Amino acid sequence: MTTALTKDLDHLRALVENQADPGRYAQRFHLMPPVGWLNDPNGLCQFKGTYHAFFQYSPFDAEGGVKMWGHSESRDMVAWDYVGTPLYPDQPFDVSGVYSGCAYVEDDVMNVFYTGNVKRLESDDYDYVNEGREANTIRTTSTDGRTFERRHVVLDNKDYPADDTEHVRDPKVWREGDKYYMVQGARREDDHGEVLVFASPDMEKWELVNRITTEYPFGYMWECPDYFEVPDLMLEGETAKVLSVSPQGLEGGDWDRRNVYQSGYFVLRGDVRRKYRLQPFALWDAGFDFYAPQTFQAQDGRRILIGWMGMPDEKTYVNPTVEDGWQHCFTLPREVTVRYGRVCQWPVRELERYRTNLREGKGELVARDAPAFDLVLDGFPEHLNFAYVKLAGQLAITWGSGVLELRFLDESKDGVGAGRRVRYEHLNGLRNVRIVGDASSVEVFVNDGELTFSTRYYPQEYGVTVDAPGAHVRMWDLVR
Ligand code: FRU
Repeated sequence: MTTALTKDLDHLRALVENQADPGRYAQRFHLMPPVGWLNDPNGLCQFKGTYHAFFQYSPFDAEGGVKMWGHSESRDMVAWDYVGTPLYPDQPFDVSGVYSGCAYVEDDVMNVFYTGNVKRLESDDYDYVNEGREANTIRTTSTDGRTFERRHVVLDNKDYPADDTEHVRDPKVWREGDKYYMVQGARREDDHGEVLVFASPDMEKWELVNRITTEYPFGYMWECPDYFEVPDLMLEGETAKVLSVSPQGLEGGDWDRRNVYQSGYFVLRGDVRRKYRLQPFALWDAGFDFYAPQTFQAQDGRRILIGWMGMPDEKTYVNPTVEDGWQHCFTLPREVTVRYGRVCQWPVRELERYRTNLREGKGELVARDAPAFDLVLDGFPEHLNFAYVKLAGQLAITWGSGVLELRFLDESKDGVGAGRRVRYEHLNGLRNVRIVGDASSVEVFVNDGELTFSTRYYPQEYGVTVDAPGAHVRMWDLVR
């Protein structure tokens, strides 16, 4: 139903988009908002050949606001075109935000599920955890991918477990056999994050069939869950079952040197609908800017993951693009594969079509003025002690003593890292590194993508310097 509010929001959104000027840090190969704020990837799918990515969008303020779904399309997942904002928070069941959700494609219909967020304002006493909030699960469908049919509630708070708080959200749907399944993230009253699993014969009537969590508390809330299975490329007949979550509230030990919130996965043994066992949690990405990823299956069978290259509630750095009226972008879409039980991520192969101007070096390479580049280091000598890549004179990516580190040499707010400092992880060895740079981002893929680091950065001048004795170094410019 279109309301007066829909019309005004649509009109005002178009006005601010038409005035937008994203400036020098506008990304070339990463999906970014036309104006304002972007967070989670939503509704990722390939529909009738075209790739669709929706995003949590607040066009009116680069620092956030009420959320709607922006929409971009692509033929190759690399060049994205913004095509509009199909879902506004204009219904009684989603007035405080069209929150995150998914698209499930079947029979030429795009089925979209999202959380209709409602924050009631009538009492000052609401804590919005146990009271004052509605988390409505909404379904709608589309046959053209751009316009949506009647939105309606398929689940609401009374359908969720009584010992959950009112934080339940972010539906992700798939099909197995003749049933549909949905995972949602939740916060239990005892501050345990968990995943709820629902089943349905028809995508309308949903029934809770399982609750998945760790034996010991692992954060108070799990956002944006996803579940999928990937065949092991190396072990014939083996399939990894992957449960992805974005936990909030991890503290102590190594968590204290990492991001405020995390995104990672458990390999699940058993059955997601019944008896299960979770293997240890692994991070999707150990960089500064990565959260709330979502996956989808491309029509050729590839499992593709896209993350939000941002971090909620981050207090230690501010992206300078706020001055240009926008903030945040997505990561590159990544192919998720499994090799000998290890989950790997690698930029979609389509990116390689944009490579040009190959430069090669043995152990070293220096390049200037390449804002968008693809750099590959491999063929390392057997016992590599040291490798060093410096970007824009200020971001040092180093390997030594079993540690892979990203460090901004100037830690100040006006440095290239805008206040970011250091992230590192331990590794058993270094086989290869791929670094993809764009106007304001760097993504590092280590050891065929077993570990990745993503960060935004804001160079005054672009440049790449490599010092990695014995390594084979290749670098391409990426040009659109
Ligand atoms: C994750 C998240 C989701 C929610 C959305 C709101 O970043 O908090 O849980 O649906 O963002 O924008």
